[in-house]
Amino acid sequence: RLGGFAVPALLPSCLAGCSGIQSALEPAGEEAASVFNLFWFMFSGGAIIWLGVVALVMYASRARQNPHSERASGLLILWGGAIFPSAVLALLLGFTFWLMPGIRPWTALADAPQLRIEVVGEQFWWRVTYFPGDGSDAVVSANEIRLPVGQRVEFTLKSNDVIHSFWIPSLGGKMDMIPGRTNRLSLLATKPGIFRGPCAEYCGTSHALMAFSVVAMEPMAFGKWLSRCAKSSENVAAAGSDAFLANGCGACHTIKGTEATGVIGPDLSHVGSRRTLGAGILPNNEATIARFITEPDRIKPGVQMPAFGMLPHQDIETIAAYLKGLK
Ligand code: CUA
Repeated sequence: RLGGFAVPALLPSCLAGCSGIQSALEPAGEEAASVFNLFWFMFSGGAIIWLGVVALVMYASRARQNPHSERASGLLILWGGAIFPSAVLALLLGFTFWLMPGIRPWTALADAPQLRIEVVGEQFWWRVTYFPGDGSDAVVSANEIRLPVGQRVEFTLKSNDVIHSFWIPSLGGKMDMIPGRTNRLSLLATKPGIFRGPCAEYCGTSHALMAFSVVAMEPMAFGKWLSRCAKSSENVAAAGSDAFLANGCGACHTIKGTEATGVIGPDLSHVGSRRTLGAGILPNNEATIARFITEPDRIKPGVQMPAFGMLPHQDIETIAAYLKGLK
């Protein structure tokens, strides 16, 4: 009988694990704050109702011998079984609608966003393209999203293969990426910080290895970062560039300012400045880059990139150092 009480008693300690870079309980964006409020509203309402039901069950178990209780039970079934749940569900529905950004006029998607970011889900990584609001050239990147704090950003979400789902719990709710259509999501970061987004829809063998990091930056710093990304890296011609091209890496990857213009895999123009490697699964350094080139299929089963472990060790190290230098 104690089982029913143990769940709510343990809940605070379970929720204590929900802090950090991928938590809907530590909102850092306007939409996430709505989700957070809705969570507490539903949780406290649910707790009150649960206590009421437990009290009634205890009362009923004592009162059932009483022959005069029949009329009272009839009323209880009508109110407790029909009227009360209908009222609660209607209230929850209304509150949820009121919180939904597409319905609130002040955050309507029609608000001209200063920045649009297109994210395309791929097995098993993210193609990211920035469309600055001032009409300057689009900037292509991958597996990391940077955005300015205090400015509404419109995401257009697509997929080229199967259904993925885009989710930055710290900033807002999730949205599916469906082949053949464009979904829209509007987010506004309210605090600078580093967050994590997972793929939230099972999409194949390495679904669990498909993530990205999110950096919410002050608008000035973001502007500088984006204009730097619009140019090619200073180290674009460094040693290693020849090995990269000679081994055919440019057939699948683009490095701005070189002959590498492939679009099958992630754009590597500034890969050295990204926080993670392999779509949010490894720290980004020369050793992990070399390992990814050598055995991508072991790090990320089902990846499209072929393994290049047959290359001379020296070549792999040179290419890894070159890529890490692309900042
Ligand atoms: Cu992409 Cu799960």
